[in-house]
Amino acid sequence: ADGDAAAGEKIFKKCQACHAVGDGAKNKVGPALNGIVGAPAGQVEGYKYSASMTEKADGGLVWDEETLTAYLHKPKEVVPKTKMSFAGLRKDEEIENVIAYLKTFQ
Ligand code: HEM
Repeated sequence: ADGDAAAGEKIFKKCQACHAVGDGAKNKVGPALNGIVGAPAGQVEGYKYSASMTEKADGGLVWDEETLTAYLHKPKEVVPKTKMSFAGLRKDEEIENVIAYLKTFQ
């Protein structure tokens, strides 16, 4: 199902302490997220990832809707020692919507 980008913009407030997206977005605690949907993991220029993320990236992890949904639900189930300390989004609908929002910055 396709998410609602406008609703996703509100969900993204939970991400903004650590992530920026859009024109001029810079890396913060976490990497800038322009173009992240469909991108290989761990490749944002100038961002220092955890060893765990780098290992997954070397293993070919790509942020498609399926892997991104799993990571946003329970980050550590996808990247065991990720330094993204975020409990995760509980509702599938919130995840779909935030992904729809991120897709507006491809
Ligand atoms: C990594 C999304 C919330 C900190 C990532 C990545 C994505 C993402 C897609 C992987 C980026 C890549 O491979 O280049 C999100 C979304 C959030 C969220 C959509 C909200 C729903 C947060 C929060 C924090 C955070 C609240 C800080 C408390 C980080 C960090 C990384 C990361 C530090 C790097 C992880 C590592 O190297 O292991 N995030 N994030 N994120 N995020 Fe988040």
